[in-house]
Amino acid sequence: MPPLSSSAPGVRQAAFRFRCIACGDLSDTASQNFRCAQCGDLLEITYPHWKETQPEAQKLKATWRQRRLSQSGVDLSGVWRFRDLLPALQNDDQAITLREGNTPLYELPQCARITGVPGLFAKHQGLNPTGSFKDAGMTVAATFARIAGFRWVACASTGNTSASMAAYAARGGMRSLVLVPDGKISWSKLSQALDYGAVTCQLRTDFDGCLRLLQELVLRAPVYQLNSINPFRLEGQKTLALELLEQFDWQPPDHIIVPGGNLGNSSAIGKALLEMRDLGLISRLPKLSVIQAEGANALVRTLREAGGKRLISVPAETRATAIRIGNPASWKKAVHVLEATGGACEQVTEVEIAQAKAEIGAEGIGCEPASAVTLAGLKKLVKQGFVKPEESVVLVLTGNLLKDPDYTMDFHRGDLFKGTSDERADTALKPLRRPPIVLDATLDAVIGALEQAER
Ligand code: F0G
Repeated sequence: MPPLSSSAPGVRQAAFRFRCIACGDLSDTASQNFRCAQCGDLLEITYPHWKETQPEAQKLKATWRQRRLSQSGVDLSGVWRFRDLLPALQNDDQAITLREGNTPLYELPQCARITGVPGLFAKHQGLNPTGSFKDAGMTVAATFARIAGFRWVACASTGNTSASMAAYAARGGMRSLVLVPDGKISWSKLSQALDYGAVTCQLRTDFDGCLRLLQELVLRAPVYQLNSINPFRLEGQKTLALELLEQFDWQPPDHIIVPGGNLGNSSAIGKALLEMRDLGLISRLPKLSVIQAEGANALVRTLREAGGKRLISVPAETRATAIRIGNPASWKKAVHVLEATGGACEQVTEVEIAQAKAEIGAEGIGCEPASAVTLAGLKKLVKQGFVKPEESVVLVLTGNLLKDPDYTMDFHRGDLFKGTSDERADTALKPLRRPPIVLDATLDAVIGALEQAER
């Protein structure tokens, strides 16, 4: 195990440095809580020599295309294929990879009709190896945990981070410790962490309480923290945007819409967009917008009530448990990329989320509730005139439909809002419900069901 020194993660490579997002302090090492030694704010990874050493944009694009023909592990990864814009490895074998990334870009013809935006697409990050976008960041951060010599990695999670971390730790021969809020994450995600061998603690608190505890833990025990406070995570998650732009043949869409929870993903996508522009890979920035659940709307309130200057935390409550977060760690980074790209920030209700999720499901794609806030948010942004019908829009679907089967079953059975204040609004969702039908095992009964459905 590495020593408990302040430089314990200890990755020292000429290619990148850590920079504090508040005071700009630069350093070659980061402390175990990934906070600035001078002012305590978050760190980001920066590449001071990029401008001199980076090949020109056309060469980079050609290299990334060429690597698609290769069978080597790092080239088969949709993250490490873009390694020129990631912290450098000494050799390719160091990467812990499950062939993450390489996720499809789908057209959404039915949702396009519903929203009145014909150029509507979904980037489905739920088709990653463990079923969420977290894998793109985890392959990089877990790799650097192992390079730094750690035996234990740990995270606080609403479920997806823990599933992903446990998988990559297992692949990389490390142990993992998971802190999740008791009773507030889906069984599906919890079961992944168990199967991948994590030590899983269900704490009697919420996600924010778990994260607070983890931040203290990493200063006391030799564990490497893999939350998105860890800037290596965001470097990996940047590749979502690189891959997306490649899929658009480097012609940027007008809008990218992403769910907001702890705000790591929006920060990562925004960082990628700004870096791509600076490197000449794209000539114009898409607007990056963040959508939150109304019951977990810390960023919405931070922007509206405090002009993005200080965080307004909220007690979080939503059935979209992945984004049940009231004190988002990366709020400053998110405010920065929203401002830099000219994006919007909106909130949507529980009923709007449920409806949007069913509409995405009806496209034959499906996603988990937190991902569906993107479509619900798009409807609002169109109504406000922020998104114009002739513009192109990409929704980032962050998690797989199978991540939260209870939600889907409750929705189709009509139980999702039972006993809540949304019970009445819920009747509007009836046409989208497809509850299972229990029948006698006879031909007549099944034909009857077919005829009923046809009516
Ligand atoms: N969508 C899904 C499916 C998520 O799991 C998360 C976050 C988000 C969106 C929000 O992304 O936090 O980067 O703004 N899940 C974390 C977890 C917090 O622990 O799995 P964010």
